[in-house]
Amino acid sequence: MEGYRLNRLITQEQIASIVQGLADQISKDYNGRELVLVCILKGAFVFLSDLMRHLRIPVQVDFVRLASYGSGMKTCGKIEITKDIEISLEKKDVLIIEDIIDSGRTLQFLRDRLTLLNPRSIKVCALLDKKTRREVEMEADYLGTEVDDLFIVGYGIDFNEHYRHLPEIYYVTPIDHSKE
Ligand code: IMP
Ligand code: MG
Repeated sequence: MEGYRLNRLITQEQIASIVQGLADQISKDYNGRELVLVCILKGAFVFLSDLMRHLRIPVQVDFVRLASYGSGMKTCGKIEITKDIEISLEKKDVLIIEDIIDSGRTLQFLRDRLTLLNPRSIKVCALLDKKTRREVEMEADYLGTEVDDLFIVGYGIDFNEHYRHLPEIYYVTPIDHSKE
């Protein structure tokens, strides 16, 4: 996209090591349990696909898609499900897979909603966390890494549907032509 610069923040090697660490922890904690990974579309699908292939335990996978209404980059109060869960979560151990936690509202909404489906347990695994942006109480049970308050793209994460395909993680800054 014109007018923006991509600045590399996390390399492929760093992502791989973060994902491996999370997968080791999850494999250990959920050994012998019936784990369902619930991936939030679209941003978390690349993370999910890497993470699940590093797990050493069997899992089921399902997807939800959420629409949040707000101005541009900010999630406001109103969140809706546009693609719901399809497999039963009853008495299962559920792990929500998210790309980035920002205000925390998306995860709070989904966790509350999935709790109504009587899972045995429900936890959250997020790749990135902008902790300083939090507006509601929400902590990931499994966290890749904390990031500063930057606009992130790559590795499944988009800016207006661009940059999801990039294998590394970048932050976006506007190009200031007056300085060139
Ligand atoms: P929250 O509800 O404010 O926590 O927002 C979480 C959602 O906003 C994530 O699932 C992302 O889809 C999106 N999001 C938050 N920060 C970024 C970012 O830096 N880049 C791209 N998407 C983001
Ligand atoms: Mg998202």
